[in-house]
Amino acid sequence: MKRAMVFLLALGLCLSGASVFAAPKPSIGCIIYKFDDTFMSYLRNQIQTDAKGKMDISVQDGQNDQPKENDEVDQFISQGATVLAINMVDPSAVSVMIGKAQKKNLPLVLFNREPDPADMAKYGKAYYVGAKAQDSGTYEGQIMAKYWKAHPEADLNKDGVMQYVMLIGDPANTDAKFRTQYSIAAVEAAGIKTKLVASDTAMWDRPKAQEKMAAWLTAYAGQIEVVFANNDDMALGAIEALKAAGYFKNGKYMPVVGVDATPPALDALAQGTLLGTVKNDAVGQGDAVFDLCYSLGNGKAAASKYPLATQDGKANPNGKYIWVPYTMVTKDNYKQFMAK
Ligand code: GAL
Ligand code: CA
Repeated sequence: MKRAMVFLLALGLCLSGASVFAAPKPSIGCIIYKFDDTFMSYLRNQIQTDAKGKMDISVQDGQNDQPKENDEVDQFISQGATVLAINMVDPSAVSVMIGKAQKKNLPLVLFNREPDPADMAKYGKAYYVGAKAQDSGTYEGQIMAKYWKAHPEADLNKDGVMQYVMLIGDPANTDAKFRTQYSIAAVEAAGIKTKLVASDTAMWDRPKAQEKMAAWLTAYAGQIEVVFANNDDMALGAIEALKAAGYFKNGKYMPVVGVDATPPALDALAQGTLLGTVKNDAVGQGDAVFDLCYSLGNGKAAASKYPLATQDGKANPNGKYIWVPYTMVTKDNYKQFMAK
């Protein structure tokens, strides 16, 4: 009797470990580079919401560890996932990921961290969903340029030059590179000279950004005129540091811009601390990822309510990219992005 129980228990454990997917329904094996990332958590929720009742889905946390993410993909493959939806930890390791999918002829939908186009070209069933990071940088710069022109008092040392600090996301990420570069390019294109006071990576992270900003406020007291952040979490971290240094009361102000338009960032906009942000459409990108998984997972041609395009953004029915547009968000329009 006892032995039979043990056997049944062991069998049950084996079965539950054998697969998270209930064949024969097509299934998505999805990995997020790390769960502890504000923007990615909204994107993840959307993919899961879309999948309800339509496809089996299992979502794993890459924990910011590429070898771990590779192991998780191997497991999904052995468990019979019919399509892989992957947010790379390290986009430069994408050829390994592509190799794994290709070996089993599985469609691979990559998202959020853009791979090298040369890697993408290696596999006909590799797709990418993202947003053109250049645009987000340009919008950030335009928001800041507009503020600067309307507020001559922002030029603290009256030298006609915008002295700025830049909080950078993961430096290996194209979003971080392009936002850093294009934000300043847009300010200069508006005819404003700029000078970098300090910049550093804070890895998209709010507490890290708060620390950096607090240190800069001490090291460069009175020299910083504006703050650029590659995302809202870091912008909000900078705002915390500024608040601790007495800003945002008694007329003491410093303009801060970010990217994402997350709910906490929209609250900060409403409170008048965050000057502006750029909507990074987590819902739209989540929908596009699911649309691709759904069509490809059901053995159909890639399809989505968003247009398929080439890497350079041209609509093309045979394209392997979906680019979800960014939108500029300021105090004039932020309300339309807040949850009803
Ligand atoms: C960016 C986003 C950041 C962070 C990053 C992760 O698009 O703006 O907040 O989520 O993706 O790769
Ligand atoms: Ca100045």
